[in-house]
Amino acid sequence: MSAVVTLDLDSWRPALADDAREHLSQRLEEGGVIRLPRVNFVLTESERRFLSPAWSNGRAKNISLDGGRLKGAAGTEGDRSELAAMIARFAASAAELVTALFPRYAPYVKRARTSFRPQRAVGRDVSWRKDDSRLHVDAFPSRPNRGERILRVFTNVNPAEDRVWRVGEPFEAMARTFLPRISSPLPGAATVLAALRVTKGPRSAYDHLMLSLHDRAKADLAYQRDCAQETVHFTPGTTWLCFSDQVMHAAVSGQYMLEQTIHLPVSALYDPARAPLAILERLTGRALVPAH
Ligand SMILES: [Fe+2]
Repeated sequence: MSAVVTLDLDSWRPALADDAREHLSQRLEEGGVIRLPRVNFVLTESERRFLSPAWSNGRAKNISLDGGRLKGAAGTEGDRSELAAMIARFAASAAELVTALFPRYAPYVKRARTSFRPQRAVGRDVSWRKDDSRLHVDAFPSRPNRGERILRVFTNVNPAEDRVWRVGEPFEAMARTFLPRISSPLPGAATVLAALRVTKGPRSAYDHLMLSLHDRAKADLAYQRDCAQETVHFTPGTTWLCFSDQVMHAAVSGQYMLEQTIHLPVSALYDPARAPLAILERLTGRALVPAH
């Protein structure tokens, strides 16, 4: 069965019947990618000039807006404030969409970072660990999240070119393959990393496993080639959402994308038993985050 659910909605504030919403939240939380080919983020005539890699400052991979602060962008003060306004408008649209589709998540939608990605999705010379053309689940070395979910909303704002992903096998199948190959962190490592401020807060056992799954999957080229997977096209003007800490995904091609990250506590889910935390705790037979 494909992981992709395509819906013919055409608004950032779609009205769905209760049973349709329930079905959609189930598909999302079991690792689906919700694809909305008619929900587009329309750039103004003036904003179309931002469709160029020249707006990156050359240091950061993406341009991002975090708590009102624009990072990674080139340009004059005027350009930068227009760019920030464009990204903020996308953040508001993404928040509306998530609120309309998944009302339980609504209290959390304003919390995280928004990015504009003017660079090509692949082709940058990066280490295997940072190579997002390899299938992976998102896990960030500097941001331990202790089980918190990573929900992402994307729009392909390229007027002419598809964004293309590969989507891999379900999370549990991937975890069953790689968990036996993961060793324990050194005793005290989490405390040391937090004390050195390498990480924002201590790394839990969950974070250690998620980072290891990210790395082990990316490092295994035979797995990358042979695991169950599908190629998914996001045509110009398509919006899509998924839990990127759960869906095995890889960039194939594309350029010009907006992305909103939303962090959700496991308790906000319709069904916490489907979360990577619950799956990993079941597979390992132990608690992976400190009790609250
Ligand atoms: Fe990713």
